[in-house]
Amino acid sequence: MLIVVSNREPYLHRTAEDGSVVAEPTTGGVAVALDALMRDRGGTWIAHGSGDSDQLVCDSSDRVRVPPDAPAYDLHRLWLTPDEEARYYSGFSNEGLWPLCHMVHVKPVFRAEDWEAYCHVNRRFAETVAADLLDATTPVFIQDYHLALVASELRKLKPAARIAIFWHIPWPDPDRLRMCPWRRAILEGLLANNLVAFQVERDRRNFLAAIREEFGLEAKNGTISLGGRESSVIAVPIGVDFDRISKTSRDPRLLVEKDRLRRDLRVATPVVGVGVDRLDYTKGIPERLDAIDRLLTETPGLASQLLFVQIGVPSRSKIESYAALEREIDERVAAINARHGRGPADGPIRYRKGSLKLRRLVALYQLADFCIVSSLHDGMNLVAKEFVAARHDEQGVLVLSELTGAAQELKDAVIINPYDAQGFTDALRRAISMPPDERRERMRRLRRVVAGQDVFAWASQILENLERVRGRRLWSGRVA
Ligand code: F6P
Repeated sequence: MLIVVSNREPYLHRTAEDGSVVAEPTTGGVAVALDALMRDRGGTWIAHGSGDSDQLVCDSSDRVRVPPDAPAYDLHRLWLTPDEEARYYSGFSNEGLWPLCHMVHVKPVFRAEDWEAYCHVNRRFAETVAADLLDATTPVFIQDYHLALVASELRKLKPAARIAIFWHIPWPDPDRLRMCPWRRAILEGLLANNLVAFQVERDRRNFLAAIREEFGLEAKNGTISLGGRESSVIAVPIGVDFDRISKTSRDPRLLVEKDRLRRDLRVATPVVGVGVDRLDYTKGIPERLDAIDRLLTETPGLASQLLFVQIGVPSRSKIESYAALEREIDERVAAINARHGRGPADGPIRYRKGSLKLRRLVALYQLADFCIVSSLHDGMNLVAKEFVAARHDEQGVLVLSELTGAAQELKDAVIINPYDAQGFTDALRRAISMPPDERRERMRRLRRVVAGQDVFAWASQILENLERVRGRRLWSGRVA
């Protein structure tokens, strides 16, 4: 039994054109990874109900059993007013914390009204957890930057709760963190968790440096003591549900799906590349399109041999920087297709907006000779790991930005720097012309890494650490 808390829900319900209510999985690494865990462990997942028909399917206590096809756990939905959503989610979380934590040259915006809403919504999440937490030994596992204050609020209601938070995105260095007027409250909120976990050592180090700068506190064996409470700080990279993706990739029905996809995307070239991203300015999509453009310009004849499929999942579109990115990508794709193909919609780039169901996604990964992940900064990037998990044929080349957390584990990818336009282009050329033996050898090693640190290993490491931390606290409490 486990309580998971996140802003994004794993499934939303919406009313289709024929009037029926349909359930859809949401996109984004957090939802997909945690759904696998909850299917396995059961329990309650508390999240913002954001589907237009979410309320219709919930019982009187705002719950619905999910996944819809094989119910395994409770989704407890919390409702936000449009104003709360605008200020807490779009405002403080995504116009403030998101650009603060990612080095992408987008200026963070911090408004006092957004901060107030953030505090208020975090309190509401904490109250919802407290109502569900009937047994104090049930672990509470909070996700990400939207919910930095939930632990401190929950402690007021349930002092003995066992709480961990996983920070899925990068943690900024102390100089950058100083841009946030409310950084001390955020750090205190995080230290109310028994366990604070990051993706990679670099983030953990930056967090401990911030604690030193702001409170003059040093960690002892990775543990910080503040106000009589101990908080352990660790780094554990998140993974994907390797077995599920791998199984899907071997399913005989995948052949039909691949044929359908080839037809839908009009794939007729010997070389196919793929990119799958939320439409976010951290993902380096314009830089990727530029590298492809340059490759086609430098290599006469390649335009008729190469198709690059870009899947873009619209995200946070109410925020101007995201809307501007969507426009920029539309323009670049049209320009490249006009330059190297027969027109804006018929050239070497096929751009499709929207998310894909698992089987179609795996089919797409398998159609591809290479996959590009070119983030300018990324906590982990699970697309890189999904691509590897989907390649049981040990084919396909992963082209991966060195500015992702994933690059610290996936050393056998072709590593690129998205800021180095020529280097990126040369790396694409290398990926396309890599000898089959080298391709196979690299993919084999990559698969070993991705299988070895899957989402279940990640969750176990965190929950076992939470258990250990709690043991230590009880013991020291008795001595005191
Ligand atoms: O992985 C980072 C993250 O912000 C998650 O917390 C989030 O669910 C996902 O990206 C998708 O973003 P959003 O929930 O804003 O659509």
